[in-house]
Amino acid sequence: MSDPNKPKPTTTDAGIPVSSDEHSLTVGPNGPIALHDHYLVEQMANFNRERIPERQPHAKGGGAFGHFEVTNDVSKFTKAALFQPGVKTDTLARFSTVAGERGSPDTWRDPRGFALKFYTSEGNYDLVGNNTPVFFIRDPMKFQHFIRSQKRRADTNLRDHDMQWDFWTLSPESAHQVTWLMGDRGIPKTWRHMNGYSSHTYLWVNTQGEKFWVKYHFKTDQGIDFLTQDNADELAGSDGDFHTRDLFEAISRGDHPSWTMHVQVMPFAEAETYRINPFDLTKVWPHKDYPLIEVGKFTLNRNPTDYHTEIEQAAFEPNNLVSGIGISPDKMLLGRMFAYADAHRHRLGVNYKQIPVNTPRSPVHSYSKDGPMRVQNVSDPVYAPNSKGGPSAQPEQYPAEQAWGAEGDLVRNAYTLRKDDDDFSQPRALINDVMDDAARERLVNNVVGHLLDGVSEPVLERAFEYWKNIDSDIGQRIEAGVKKA
Ligand code: NDP
Ligand code: HEM
Repeated sequence: MSDPNKPKPTTTDAGIPVSSDEHSLTVGPNGPIALHDHYLVEQMANFNRERIPERQPHAKGGGAFGHFEVTNDVSKFTKAALFQPGVKTDTLARFSTVAGERGSPDTWRDPRGFALKFYTSEGNYDLVGNNTPVFFIRDPMKFQHFIRSQKRRADTNLRDHDMQWDFWTLSPESAHQVTWLMGDRGIPKTWRHMNGYSSHTYLWVNTQGEKFWVKYHFKTDQGIDFLTQDNADELAGSDGDFHTRDLFEAISRGDHPSWTMHVQVMPFAEAETYRINPFDLTKVWPHKDYPLIEVGKFTLNRNPTDYHTEIEQAAFEPNNLVSGIGISPDKMLLGRMFAYADAHRHRLGVNYKQIPVNTPRSPVHSYSKDGPMRVQNVSDPVYAPNSKGGPSAQPEQYPAEQAWGAEGDLVRNAYTLRKDDDDFSQPRALINDVMDDAARERLVNNVVGHLLDGVSEPVLERAFEYWKNIDSDIGQRIEAGVKKA
C-alpha cells in the first residue's frame, strides 16, 4: 500500500519521474549546465510561454460557475430550451473592468463586464453584457476609437482624462453612459452588489414562430451598493484585487451570490412605431412602457480551481445564440457578431472551443477540421453534402426564422431619428428622477475630480457644455466646481 501522505512524484510533462526539483544537471557540482538537461529546458520554455495575450478590452476580471433556474413561464415569448419552465442550466460568469490591463485595480471607475455562458441542452448560449443598460456609442465603427481613448496614450503610456473627455464631448451619444459612469454605479462595492444587463435588444421567437424584442435585466439579490471615489482610490492602493477576492471568498464560505433575471418584452411590430429607436444602445426602454417580467434566478456556487484554464481561457461571444433567441438590428450588436470569435482565434487559437470551459455540454457535430491544438477527433466524412452518414442541417427543427427584414441602399449614415431620440433626455431623467440630492452631489464631485485630473482647454469648455446639455443646474455646478478649484 502506498503511503497517502507521501507527495506524488514530480514528473516531466511527459509523465516521466524526475530526480530533482532543485538542481540543474551540471558537470560536477560547480561546473557548467549541460544543454541536454531537457527537464530544466522544459521548465524554462514553459515559463516563457505562460502568458497568453490578454483580452483587448475587459482584461482584468474574475469569475465563477453556477446555474440558472427558470422560475416563471415565459414560453409564450421564446422556445429557447434554457428558458422553459423548471429548466436548470449550468452557467459560467465572468465580471471585469473594461479599460484596465490584467493587473489593474478592480476599483477603477469603469463599466463592469457581466458575461454569462449558459451550457444549454441545445448548445452554448452566451450573453455578454455589462452592469449598465446602455453604452457610450451606437455604431461599431467608433468602438475601437472609444476604447483607445480609454486606454493609454502613445507617448507617455499613461491613461489620460483629456483624451477621454475629448472623445466623449465630441460624441454626445455618450452622455447617458457617462452619467451612469460618473454616478454611484460607476464603481460597484463588489461584483455581487451590481446588476447585469444585456444592454442590447435581442429577438425571442416562440414555438408558433411569433417574434418579440427583449432586453435582459439581472437584478442583484445582494442589493445594489457602491464605493465612493475615496473608498475606491484607497482600495486601488491597498487591495487591487478587491472584487476578485470578494467573489472568491464569498463563494468559498458558502455565501452564494444570485441575481433575478427579468426581461422587458416589446411586441415585434411595435418596434416600427415606438417613440424611441428600440435598437439604439444608448437608450433604455422606460419601465413604464415595458415593465420587467421575471424569468428566473442565476446563482454562482463554485469557484474555479485553475484561473487560467477556466477564466482566462473562457471565450464569450454574443454570436453564440441558441434556437429561440436571435439578434436585433442594433448596429453595435451586429458588429459584435464578428469581433469576439475573431478575438478568440487570436488570443486562444482556432480550436478555442475545445478548451473544456468553452466546450458545449450538448453534442457537437460540426464540419470544422484540424488546426493547431485540436484535441477532439474528427471523423469522415469531412464535407457536406455527403451520402456517407455525416451530419446534415435540420431546417424543419431549426428553421432560419430568427431574422427580420431590411431594405435600402448601402449607406454610411446614422440611424434615422425618431421623436424621442435625443441624446440628453434619458441621462437628464437619470439625474432628476432617479438620483436623490446626495447622489447628485456625488455625481458633481466625481465629474469635477475627473475633469481636474489633466483635462485642458478647449476640451474642458466642451465638457461644461456637455453637462449643461444634460442638465443646466448640474452643468453649472460642475463648471463652478472646476473653476473654484
Ligand atoms: P424607473 O424609475 O422605472 O427606473 C429607474 C431605474 O434606475 C431602476 O431600474 C433603478 O435600478 C435604476 N437606478 C437607481 N439608481 C440609479 C443610479 N444611481 N444610477 C443608475 N441607475 C439607477 O425609470 P425609467 O425606466 O423611466 O428610467 C429612468 C432612468 O433610469 C433612465 O433614463 C435610465 O438612466 C435609468 N435606468 C433605466 C433602466 C431601464 O431599463 N428602464 C434600467 C436602469 C436604469 P434598481 O431598481 O436596480 O435600483
Ligand atoms: C470583451 C469587442 C461592445 C461587453 C470584448 C473583447 C472584444 C470586444 C474584442 C475581448 C474578447 C476576448 O478577447 O475574449 C467589442 C466590440 C464592441 C463591443 C467590437 C462594439 C462594437 C460591447 C458591449 C458590451 C460588451 C456593448 C456590453 C453590453 C463585453 C464584455 C467583455 C467584452 C463583458 C468581456 C467578456 C469576458 O469576460 O471574457 N469586447 N465589444 N462589449 N465585451 Fe465587448
